[in-house]
Amino acid sequence: MTPEDLAPAAPLPAVGRTPPKGGREANLSSPSGREPLSSPSGGELLSSPSGGGGPRRGGGGLPPHPVAASVADDARGIELAWSDGLRETLPAAWLIDNGEDAFDGPTGQRRLGLGAVDPQARLQCGGLDAAGLTISLEGGAMLAVSRHRLLSRRRSPPAPALWLEAAAIETPDAISADAYLNDDEALAETASRIARQGLAFLTGGLTEPGYVERIVARFGFIRETNYGRLFDVRSEPRPSNLAYTAEALDLHTDNPYRDPPPTLQLLHAIHADATGGATCFADGFAHAEALARTAPEAFDRLARTPVEFAYRAPDGAVYRARRPLIEQGPDGALVAVRLNHRSLAPLDLADREIAPWYDAYRAFHDLLHAPLAALKVRLLPGDVVLFDNRRIVHGREAYDGGASTGRWLQGCYADIDGLLATLARLRPDGLA
Ligand SMILES: [Fe+2]
Repeated sequence: MTPEDLAPAAPLPAVGRTPPKGGREANLSSPSGREPLSSPSGGELLSSPSGGGGPRRGGGGLPPHPVAASVADDARGIELAWSDGLRETLPAAWLIDNGEDAFDGPTGQRRLGLGAVDPQARLQCGGLDAAGLTISLEGGAMLAVSRHRLLSRRRSPPAPALWLEAAAIETPDAISADAYLNDDEALAETASRIARQGLAFLTGGLTEPGYVERIVARFGFIRETNYGRLFDVRSEPRPSNLAYTAEALDLHTDNPYRDPPPTLQLLHAIHADATGGATCFADGFAHAEALARTAPEAFDRLARTPVEFAYRAPDGAVYRARRPLIEQGPDGALVAVRLNHRSLAPLDLADREIAPWYDAYRAFHDLLHAPLAALKVRLLPGDVVLFDNRRIVHGREAYDGGASTGRWLQGCYADIDGLLATLARLRPDGLA
């Protein structure tokens, strides 16, 4: 949420106070008491939509280990057998490039130049022992490849825990903000939740402006944007534009007109009264995956058709980015969703492409707006929510603007890879 796309003070409503009309109250202050406002039933928990393939392993369980090795018949590589049954042939170029001598000890960086990697190299003999592979190349050079290095080829991030319904979120309860700031395990757990389910909540923090900077400092740096280092969203008695009304905000991702958009967003409740609408979150990846299953043509159209998002800043600067609504990587894995109808530029597709694109757009929109899809929460002053802006769409229900004075959210953006790097430091076994 930014000043341009968040309505008035985007009051993240108070927790544990007067329940809103027509819904139950989520409570971030009491982990056991927190629940979706309108998603009472259980939901499907999906694994990653993209398996990725290849000789990889997930983050759970004991890692496999190599059990046998021999030189391939053509002497171009090593045939390796693993404890989990995988058999693979590692080419000479990979072995040379990953020999222990190729790396600098203190930094761990590769110091071997690519010119030393001969793709046509042939192996003379090779064996496996407790340390790893020992290989003799034709010409006499020796090579050692550690078990750690062999295993690193098979490492892959844990599959995200997609949630089609709010009730399917693995851990919707909040973590103590004080623990987050002072205990590395609480920090790791927060990062793990964001990696797996796309968002995490902290509760019981301070209500002083700038507090969110302390939250970011635990794992990285604030990403400043045209909205500043921090942005304040406060209600005003005489709103001058749509951003300062009490209207509902449709589910969206922030700043799709930036390249790249911010990857992580934080919102900190400084003031909040009990009369406002709920803040909503839905899992864009889960519903993109659902769209791929239920309406593959619509998914393909959204994934293959770049459209333009644009925003004109008050100083006249115009930000533009042309991307598909659903972005996949080369392996088909979901990379990001971009959804923000307020900043979608007039569609400039060929005329025959426009109606089918809108059909697909609405199909995705309707999945995200299914009755049980959104987690709807109220935040107490001192609560903080962190979410992956590439995956999680957020919005807000309408509220009573006349009673909103005193609400104040402060937000900022950060780079999610800094958070994931911190998680890797704290949990080096790869378990998220
Ligand atoms: Fe937003």
